[in-house]
Amino acid sequence: MSLFNFFKSKPKFAAEPDRSMWVDFHSHLLPGIDDGCKTINDSLENIRELQHQGVRRIITTPHIFKELYPNTPEIIREKLALVKKALAENFMDVEIEVSAEYYLDEWFCQNYDKMELLTIPGNFILVETNYMDRPHFLEQIFFDLQTSGYKVIFAHPERYNYLLNNYQAFHTLHDSGILFQCNLLSFTGYYSPQIKKAAEYLLKHKMIHLVGSDIHKIRHSQTITQFKRSQTYQELLKLDLLNNFL
Ligand SMILES: [Fe+2]
Repeated sequence: MSLFNFFKSKPKFAAEPDRSMWVDFHSHLLPGIDDGCKTINDSLENIRELQHQGVRRIITTPHIFKELYPNTPEIIREKLALVKKALAENFMDVEIEVSAEYYLDEWFCQNYDKMELLTIPGNFILVETNYMDRPHFLEQIFFDLQTSGYKVIFAHPERYNYLLNNYQAFHTLHDSGILFQCNLLSFTGYYSPQIKKAAEYLLKHKMIHLVGSDIHKIRHSQTITQFKRSQTYQELLKLDLLNNFL
């Protein structure tokens, strides 16, 4: 082999990124503050299952939804401290931090610039909307957040009814710089066959930027453990997901 070819060829021992050390970006693991884990034992049980799957860093994202879950950074940090203490007491070695899943409603649109937003490191903000009706302000709030310097992560786009009959809207949102976070559960058919189909469409068109567990309860965690043995999961691993780079 010439010296030129030696440097050109990829060394056989080049380390591939360790895809098993994923960061999980979307879950409801703090006890008693939204529709996720109810008790500290629920939290530990789900975190143990995530560890078992190879997740080493968890950025958990309680709902912040003025009408249903009026959580604040103070409430969320207080619960985080509780979970961290329990993890230490149980010798569970996992990195856990908090962000939030912001519900986009009129209240959020009017107040987001006046409050502390719990972003994911890198100034990413995780947002969701109503499942049924497309909010009339959707494009505007996405644009406003982007121009304020946030990188907008749209939680589980495959789950919104108003997008399921209009796949072109996925492309429009994607082209406007909105990052798509698909739920692993969506690929299993857990929510519905239509949602599975939409998730597969996004995978086929390489429009997924991140995946998340969106774990609320142990059944979710266990279903994801099984999914991680599937061919579809292997297909997801081939994408350059942000899960591997943060
Ligand atoms: Fe969620």
